[in-house]
Amino acid sequence: MHTALLDIRDAYVSYDKRRFFSRVVTHFYALNAISLQVRPGESVGLVGESGSGKSTLGKMVVGMLPLARGSLTFRGQSFHGREFCHQPLRLRKEIQMVHQDFHGTLDPKMSIFGTIEEALVLHFPEHTRAWRKQRVEQLLTQVGLSPAVASYYPRQLSGGQRQRVNIARALAVEPHLLICDEVVSALDVSVQAQILNLLSSIREQRPLAMLFISHDMAVVERMCDFVCVLNAGKMVEKGTVEEVCYHPRDPYTQKLIQAVPDL
Ligand SMILES: Nc1ncnc2c1ncn2[C@@H]1O[C@H](COP(=O)(O)OP(=O)(O)OP(=O)(O)O)[C@@H](O)[C@H]1O
Ligand SMILES: [Mg+2]
Repeated sequence: MHTALLDIRDAYVSYDKRRFFSRVVTHFYALNAISLQVRPGESVGLVGESGSGKSTLGKMVVGMLPLARGSLTFRGQSFHGREFCHQPLRLRKEIQMVHQDFHGTLDPKMSIFGTIEEALVLHFPEHTRAWRKQRVEQLLTQVGLSPAVASYYPRQLSGGQRQRVNIARALAVEPHLLICDEVVSALDVSVQAQILNLLSSIREQRPLAMLFISHDMAVVERMCDFVCVLNAGKMVEKGTVEEVCYHPRDPYTQKLIQAVPDL
């Protein structure tokens, strides 16, 4: 058995909450006592209704949110509190996230080349511009876009094309773990299938662990080896796809599955 690439133990994440016109700040725990492991090359699904804490968990794993309690261990190195938010570039590069709100993630004033090149300059400063140019073309081709797209601006792309650019940018730095937050939920069914096929084929080319966030059980069933179910910030069930999707034990999971007509 492999040791975990990512090992989250008893994690809590809170947001500050302040009433209007009040100076009293209280904490709202969006994640409570979450434990979750992702092994190298494995795809773990994270499902749950809107507001259950899925994006919060993804953001915690990329160091955008601190841990209120608990620990996060990545490649054998453990972090508590804010430690992982200040992780060195070397570690940050290993975990990339494709965000839920993909319309807002591309800078409208930057060409697609500029967007992807930015990540390359940051993480591979030793390489030349000619190398970066070639790498951007390679990445665009890998995600099924024409290299000509490099000179486009985000407004010239469709939703599906933008999502491919987001995936290319995440892959640019060669992560070991890719967090996909609702990558297909805003796309129409045929484009959804194309993006899911793309992610599957990328994972066939090289080992890439994935934390696949979705509210759609059918998509998770297709993409993942393991599934974790979140309800109101708590993990109510986890297991293999077979266990969770076909023999769910928790009533909340059963309800989520009943909502999928053809599973
Ligand atoms: N920046 C924030 N400040 C305060 N509360 C927040 C913030 N972001 C999220 N929350 C709250 O945390 C809870 C979990 O939100 P989160 O975005 O993680 O849910 P989600 O499962 O990703 O939902 P969705 O499926 O709609 O994307 C929600 O109750 C939400 O209102
Ligand atoms: Mg979300």
